[in-house]
Amino acid sequence: MSQENILEVKDLHVDIKLHEGVLTPVRGVSFEIAKGETLGLVGESGSGKSLTCKAILGINEKKCKSSGEIIYDAHEKGKIDLLKLNPTGKEIREIRGKQISMIFQEPMVAFSPMYTIGNQINEATLLHITKDKKKAKEITLDVMRKVGIANVEKRFKQYPHEFSGGMLQRALIAMALVCNPKLLIADEPTTALDVTIQAQILELMKELQKEFNMAILFITHDLGVVARMCDRVAVMYLGRIVESGPAATIYADPEHPYTRGLIGSVHKIGGKKEDRLFSIPGTVPLAMNLPKACGFYDRCDARIEGLCDKAEPDLVEIAPGHCVACFNCPHEACKKQKEEAMAKIKAEEAAAKVAPDPEEGGKKRGKR
Ligand SMILES: Nc1ncnc2c1ncn2[C@@H]1O[C@H](COP(=O)(O)OP(=O)(O)OP(=O)(O)O)[C@@H](O)[C@H]1O
Ligand code: SF4
Ligand SMILES: [Mg+2]
Repeated sequence: MSQENILEVKDLHVDIKLHEGVLTPVRGVSFEIAKGETLGLVGESGSGKSLTCKAILGINEKKCKSSGEIIYDAHEKGKIDLLKLNPTGKEIREIRGKQISMIFQEPMVAFSPMYTIGNQINEATLLHITKDKKKAKEITLDVMRKVGIANVEKRFKQYPHEFSGGMLQRALIAMALVCNPKLLIADEPTTALDVTIQAQILELMKELQKEFNMAILFITHDLGVVARMCDRVAVMYLGRIVESGPAATIYADPEHPYTRGLIGSVHKIGGKKEDRLFSIPGTVPLAMNLPKACGFYDRCDARIEGLCDKAEPDLVEIAPGHCVACFNCPHEACKKQKEEAMAKIKAEEAAAKVAPDPEEGGKKRGKR
């Protein structure tokens, strides 16, 4: 693990056993986040973003089985593989909420309606920072002020239903930041908000990131949000990273057809009124019994018949820090991968011709 990285996710898989079969919504995801950096994880609904970040904290449901490695730099305690920890044990509980905290997709669901907002934020302060009730309340009020909640003494005693959506989101950020985490996982933190409040919350997160010097894993389906927030981007599709790189490169020079589709579907400043927004046809398929093919095949306007429907490309580096998983990309590393995959398919087809299907042979023999 590089000294600079706070987190390295390596070949993460999440499988879910259902009555109908095994769902494989996360299929070999790898990425790293440097200290103080913001990585955007982007993709349509159902691409596996939330399962990935919940796997980091070990908070997926029991039926979700995670494998791979999630290496976290816990400073004085050294590097820890979070997947090896007992998900209900002391060690992960000390990391969760204190060193790595998470802002969930739905603020209304994240808070219990039964307790006041102040008490719920204070619970984290008491658990991780100090057992002294007076000091804990001071810390909680201070962080509530920092996230822009006015009149904090009164707000401390109010219940979630007394907060507007934007205020509740601020309270959720306060709860995530109260322990000064090293890594913040923000899962669509502004999706439920209107655009002006969204802009305020994003600015606030940037300011707090500078102040706390924390890394952020920012999950969203909105590339516009990524542009203002992230240093690097990882684009996820059907449980895999299909492109990753510096945010500026991904915007200026997207190589994967899916990334191009996502970027084409975002409004551009200065674009003409009559310009139509691009939309990617179809939807993300269900990750069950997937064929050995590129996951984007059915929706891709650049697919190569006989190759993309027979093999799945790996993520390869095409320029420093810029990686793509696509056979039909003009860079050398992709061309090499394409040639190797074609040769393998040809060899397999030739081998299948030489060795006849035993079942077929049996049938023929039976007929004679
Ligand atoms: N507990 C579960 N049981 C069964 N299937 C699940 C479960 N959790 C997630 N899935 C399925 O796994 C896939 C990925 O889910 P995930 O929540 O990670 O998607 P996502 O990328 O976060 O989408 P969104 O943008 O809608 O939040 C989806 O198809 C989802 O239906
Ligand atoms: S590998 Fe083929 S199907 Fe997949 S994205 Fe590239 S061109 Fe499209
Ligand atoms: Mg999600």
